[in-house]
Amino acid sequence: MNPRLPAAPRCLAPATDQCDQATQRCEIAATGLTGAAPNEGASWALRGPQQWHDPCDARVRVSLVIGAPPLSAARLARGTMKVNIAKAVLEEHRYFVAARPLVNIDGLSSPRVCNFLNRLVSRLDADECYLEIGTYKGLTLISAALDNLGKKCVGCDKFRLISSTTGIGVMAKRALMSNLARYGGRLGDIAFHHTTSRRLFARGLIDMPVGVYFYDGDHSRAGTYHGMVAAAPYLSERAVVAVDDWNDPTIRRAAARGLRDAQLRILWQRELHGDHSLGTWWNGLGVFFVEKSPEDKEIEAPFAP
Ligand SMILES: C[S@@+](CC[C@H](N)C(=O)[O-])C[C@H]1O[C@@H](n2cnc3c(N)ncnc32)[C@H](O)[C@@H]1O
Repeated sequence: MNPRLPAAPRCLAPATDQCDQATQRCEIAATGLTGAAPNEGASWALRGPQQWHDPCDARVRVSLVIGAPPLSAARLARGTMKVNIAKAVLEEHRYFVAARPLVNIDGLSSPRVCNFLNRLVSRLDADECYLEIGTYKGLTLISAALDNLGKKCVGCDKFRLISSTTGIGVMAKRALMSNLARYGGRLGDIAFHHTTSRRLFARGLIDMPVGVYFYDGDHSRAGTYHGMVAAAPYLSERAVVAVDDWNDPTIRRAAARGLRDAQLRILWQRELHGDHSLGTWWNGLGVFFVEKSPEDKEIEAPFAP
């Protein structure tokens, strides 16, 4: 228990349209520091550097979204990414050869991947978001959002690393929450969904076009394929798709099939080498600049009111 937290925190935050139960929001703010975690199925958001919860010392604003957040009519517009920001960022930063860690978080990635994601997020248009499947303790998500105030970042993890009976997933989730609280004041707007990527997409929990999509979740053939196909309708007309663990031929094949079957036209691509050492691209990264085919552009379902 964090000694700075009072036993019964009093929430001073105004109610919002996403959650009118202020006491539950207090719980989440508190649990972010104490380590208790809300149940699977919960989604919550971290928005900006303001300190709204007086009694606790967290310089973060965390709100619990109960159930599926409503799709907002204001966010119906499609993303507008025109230029290949992946190519631009890689070239401007010399493929991040000299990258240093952005955060002190235990995770399964390297400074090159983290810095690349961070620079991609910095180039997002205002009407687009970053989506990451498979956050684990938050190394890549928090690196992506760091010092990108106002940029929208969405994370998703199911937190069942081996099985539902092991504590590894619970500990990863606690670590994620405390890491978010630790870096809260320096992060963009983060929405997090504790669920599987299948449910995330099936329930339409993404409410704005995805300009940068980082897939680091279920690395099975079926999981990777689904991660491409199911995400496609949510992507901006042109978007960057980055797939982790590119060294694995199963992932390469499944991702390629998924992109093809989702009718995403690959305008540009790079295979970035990694050997699990910190100076490389971890376990390899496949990066694509894709464009929706004309048929797919007509699919408005995910953003329909
Ligand atoms: C390789 S780790 C991610 C590493 C992370 N990006 C980092 O920065 O350290 C893979 C994560 O994907 C999650 N995962 C696996 N299958 C998933 C699924 N179907 N939906 C959502 N998350 C999933 C696991 O719980 C695990 O935390």
